[in-house]
Amino acid sequence: MQKPASEKLTAKAKERPSPAPAKYDFMVVSNRLPVDRCSAEDAANDGDGWRRSPGGLVTALAPLMAKSDGAWVGWHGAPDEAVEPFSHDDMDLVPVQLSADDVELYYEGFSNATLWPLYHDVIATPEFHRTWWDAYRRVNQRFADAVVQSADKNATIWVQDYQLQLVPQMLRRVRPDLKIGFFNHIPFPPPEIFAQLPWRQAILEGLLGSDLVGFQRPSDAANFMRSARRFLGASVKQQQVQVRDSSGEVTHIARAQAFPISIAVDQISELAERPDIVERARQIRQDLGNPRTILLGVDRLDYTKGIRHRLKAFEELLQDGSLKVTDATLIQVASPSRERVEQYRILREEIEGTVGHINGTYDTMQNTAVRYLHHSYPVEEMVALYLAADVMLVTALRDGMNLVAKEYVAARTNHTGALVLSEFTGAADQLKQALLVNPHDIDGLKNTIMRAVDLPANESRRRMRTMRKQILDHDVDHWSSEFLAALAEKVVRDDS
Ligand code: G6P
Repeated sequence: MQKPASEKLTAKAKERPSPAPAKYDFMVVSNRLPVDRCSAEDAANDGDGWRRSPGGLVTALAPLMAKSDGAWVGWHGAPDEAVEPFSHDDMDLVPVQLSADDVELYYEGFSNATLWPLYHDVIATPEFHRTWWDAYRRVNQRFADAVVQSADKNATIWVQDYQLQLVPQMLRRVRPDLKIGFFNHIPFPPPEIFAQLPWRQAILEGLLGSDLVGFQRPSDAANFMRSARRFLGASVKQQQVQVRDSSGEVTHIARAQAFPISIAVDQISELAERPDIVERARQIRQDLGNPRTILLGVDRLDYTKGIRHRLKAFEELLQDGSLKVTDATLIQVASPSRERVEQYRILREEIEGTVGHINGTYDTMQNTAVRYLHHSYPVEEMVALYLAADVMLVTALRDGMNLVAKEYVAARTNHTGALVLSEFTGAADQLKQALLVNPHDIDGLKNTIMRAVDLPANESRRRMRTMRKQILDHDVDHWSSEFLAALAEKVVRDDS
């Protein structure tokens, strides 16, 4: 086995001239750059007007960027604005420009109103529009062009997620020298559902431009290979797909494998032991009137997350007296997301209506049933919330992984607390000692919530200790180095 790209890439590290070189031997490509614009006030304090985005992916890849001759290609988040390549936090960033039309058709349309619902068990109905597809192709080509211009010979390129599924093939066509990896952060649907997509062949061919296609779960990889067989007639053996050109010649092998993503476990654990954050957790409990039980939900406000199911179960528990508003509070953090997409607008209205109804019915002057927060918070505040919560509720109807579940476990360094986890998340494959639940089964969900509320301390400790060990052994660095090591491997063709 060759050395992982992550190690090889360190070589050129320190000789990087300033300003940034035009050619890179490691490039990450994702729809969004790993930085956000910061407020005028923050910009005045520390300089360049950008702040590193929170999240595991950037935490894992930033050190590789900084050490190696690497760059990150992505959209900077503002429509119709051209931004020159720049460096931030030791990372070279190559912005891709999107017009307001591109945002509407490629991002809000094809990515988030066609692919997102299709890949998440059609929980919402996917829309199929040819104009959206045209924009998706056009924008994927723009991302591919940005890579082609800046990639050194034989560079390693790692494309991220469903917004950019055509990029691998676009790269391979003009740059067969590149090593191309792709990672799908969301589920890959079974062929019976994928079949609906009018452009299913083009998407499969796009992905198969990769040397290695990574998925969250083995079942996602299996779904992808079944689709390649069914819709392209591809020969699939073991985890290898033989990719042929129009004359039928095998051009390369694309492998499909699971690499479950994780989080920066050390970072979360360290924050969880910081005295100011422990104090903040105490303060949160006190502000809520020190109820016996705090339940917590943390999600992007998305219909895949099962927030309605969670609220329904909680409301019924208040209704039948299993929980009392004086004893139990649910904190629901719902961070704003994709607010211009209609399904998300409808969801927000529904959730806020339901929360208002529950609180109107059960609140007292002192106690609130649901403390609903439509905000995003910095990681420090999130960890304080994880520490304050006795029970974490993750009730997604379908989720590629769900990193919130892993963050909660990472934060519980003293092995207390209970995690209620939907079996429809990728995380359920790894966190087997969670209290697993089918969120569609409201009675089952209610019973599991009550089990979590009353979980004996020794059982909670036993479960939490095993889950913490799992994620300590499999943090996000482990994920990226496993993927890059597999990408660097020489493929032995299985012709048996
Ligand atoms: C999911 C996707 C990511 C996406 C994120 C936030 O986790 O897998 O690709 O970036 O949601 O969504 P947004 O549309 O705001 O980028």
